Amino acid sequence: YSIWLDSKLRLQLDPLLILEYFLWRKGHEYAISNHYDRHCVWEEVVRNKKLNKYNHTIIDQQFEFYQADGLTRFNASDPNRLLPSNVPEGSFIIRAHTPMSNLFSCLWFNEVDRFTPRDQLSFAYTYQKLRRMNPGKPFHLHMFKDCERRAIAKLYHHRSEEKRNTR
Ligand SMILES: *[C@@H]1O[C@H](CO)[C@@H](O)[C@H](O)[C@H]1NC(C)=O
Ligand SMILES: *[C@@H]1O[C@H](CO)[C@@H](O)[C@H](O)[C@H]1NC(C)=O
Repeated sequence: YSIWLDSKLRLQLDPLLILEYFLWRKGHEYAISNHYDRHCVWEEVVRNKKLNKYNHTIIDQQFEFYQADGLTRFNASDPNRLLPSNVPEGSFIIRAHTPMSNLFSCLWFNEVDRFTPRDQLSFAYTYQKLRRMNPGKPFHLHMFKDCERRAIAKLYHHRSEEKRNTR
């Protein structure tokens, strides 16, 4: 098992309780929260370019490649959609290191390495393709709401740390 936590977050709970809540309770092997606001990769691309998060040419290459390889727009009213959202909040990830979970992590990393470190852009593509290429192999991914992440891993402000240290 592993729990990935961004450096800006601090865990508020016993890690075993976290594994129980996000994985064991319902038999999941990979848990990640959705983005609090955006659900579609199309919106995420616009946002990344607007905030100049990465080289636009490379974002465009990545996005064109994904569309050519089957990435579709998020449709909240589609009962057969694979995920509750196509945009994750990757600052808090809980994993059982099962073969499918490891495969997903490896494939997702490949996209980050191949195109851009903007992992929100490649998550849904990687997941959709993994499912498409492995129809007989279940992968128990749990995408939970961002507010649940906030309750468990609080944002930690570096400035308050400095203040504490000077006391
Ligand atoms: C963005 O990437 C392209 C392709 O690698 C490169 O030609 C271009 O100079 C880069 N632009 C910036 C602003 O770094
Ligand atoms: C979204 O899914 C619903 C239900 O399947 C469908 O009726 C609708 O046409 C879809 N919308 C788009 C934009 O694809």
